[in-house]
Amino acid sequence: MSSRTIQVSPFDLVVFGGTGDLAARKLLPALYQRDRAGQMPEEARIIGVSRRPLPREEYLSFVREAINRHVPPTERNPESVEHFCRHIFFCAVDATGDTGWAELATLLSSGEEIVRAFYFAVSPDLFAAISQRIRQFGLVTPESRVVLEKPLGKDGESAEAVNAAVAAVFQESQVFRIDHYLGKETVQNLMALRFANRLFEPLWNSTHIDHIQITVAEELGVGERAGYYDTSGALRDMVQNHMLQLLCLTAMEPPDAFSADSVRDEKLKILKALKRIDERNSETCTVRGQYRNGSVGGQPTSSYLADIGESESDTETFVAIRAEIANWRWAGVPFYLRTGKRLAARRSEIVITFRPISHSIFDHTAGRISQNRLVIRLQPDEGMNLEVMIKDPGPGGMRLRRIPLDMSFAETFGVANPDAYERLLMDVIRGNQTLFMRHDEVSAAWRWIDPILTAWRSGNRRVHLYSAGTWGPSAAVALIERDGRTWLEDAD
Ligand code: BG6
Repeated sequence: MSSRTIQVSPFDLVVFGGTGDLAARKLLPALYQRDRAGQMPEEARIIGVSRRPLPREEYLSFVREAINRHVPPTERNPESVEHFCRHIFFCAVDATGDTGWAELATLLSSGEEIVRAFYFAVSPDLFAAISQRIRQFGLVTPESRVVLEKPLGKDGESAEAVNAAVAAVFQESQVFRIDHYLGKETVQNLMALRFANRLFEPLWNSTHIDHIQITVAEELGVGERAGYYDTSGALRDMVQNHMLQLLCLTAMEPPDAFSADSVRDEKLKILKALKRIDERNSETCTVRGQYRNGSVGGQPTSSYLADIGESESDTETFVAIRAEIANWRWAGVPFYLRTGKRLAARRSEIVITFRPISHSIFDHTAGRISQNRLVIRLQPDEGMNLEVMIKDPGPGGMRLRRIPLDMSFAETFGVANPDAYERLLMDVIRGNQTLFMRHDEVSAAWRWIDPILTAWRSGNRRVHLYSAGTWGPSAAVALIERDGRTWLEDAD
């Protein structure tokens, strides 16, 4: 048994965007799984909200369909789906008008102690208007919380505006800004690895670490999200949030406790210590790419332009960055970040390469002594590899080689990891903000991203094209090779 399931308190979860894509793909399947695991109390209610009136029965069909499509067949049966449906309600509400709010107020449980969570799974343009209505109709109780989906703004200024509008209605302790990467099992494991083991901490600094690579590679293209993506690009879509969160958890000082503010204080310090990238150095420290047609997993795929139905776009679907953290622990250790769509494989990992040994006692016949590496695999096949040098077995001479001490979490524990949303949704109900971003963290992340965006805009450099199914433009290889290093897949 790897973990215990403790039931959460009774709650009403109001999902704005209840008939949307996120609700269908992530929220409803995650809540279904938690219900199946016995974590949702009988009184728990999920109230789907959308503008168009819908009889409850029709909304239930939407929910059943979402579960059939997005939950593996081995994890569903008619009884568990029907059990879950007992929690489901629907209310038509006009987010920007007055229609439906009184009905929603009536539908909500009156008990002050019942957790009331509002999930904004809609465009951020609506966050302010919905928050205002929630206040106007007196829906905020002491046990209320609000969950904000990304994107939180498209730059620092717009993010501030969203945060301010929400802060006019909810206290910071009630605001849950989702970064679903923080709900991934292996991302949390990173904290266990660093702070529940003696082994790594003495080595976790510039004296022993040569450099760190963080890769989040996807095989998928932009899919149905062309409209959003073309105004966003990989820097805003992945780096401002997911990649920087991974960097923070890898680099932060040990917090004094595993509590929301202690963890977030430490992450904030890292974001503030990131060396600025702007017009002066963006050319050497960043690479932007866009996929053209190619082949992924043996299947021909179209170009980004064809996917979005445009003849021209300068939006990046790939970005690589050489980042540095100006503090005592990390000075001089580059963090190479890389993310992109339509790459050679779906692979997310953090690779920590240690410095070479200080002196070899072996002569040249032993072969090269490779640097130790710790590879933390976030997905797929979550686990880690600690790569160490050993003697090649056999009666020959002393020949050395590097082998991985490989640990696959799924194999070790015999369970599939839950989806990130399962954990995060239950944390919202429990009121635990540790795995959510605080207002000042989001602002600090934008303060680092904004000058890069400005430099790109003013630099007049077009995106580098790369063939789908590769590891991105050759400029990304040059970015790391200029420092005499290589990306993991090119390493020996
Ligand atoms: C989302 C991005 O936040 O994360 C998507 O908007 C991206 O563009 C996705 O595909 C990746 O998440 P995961 O969990 O599939 O790695």
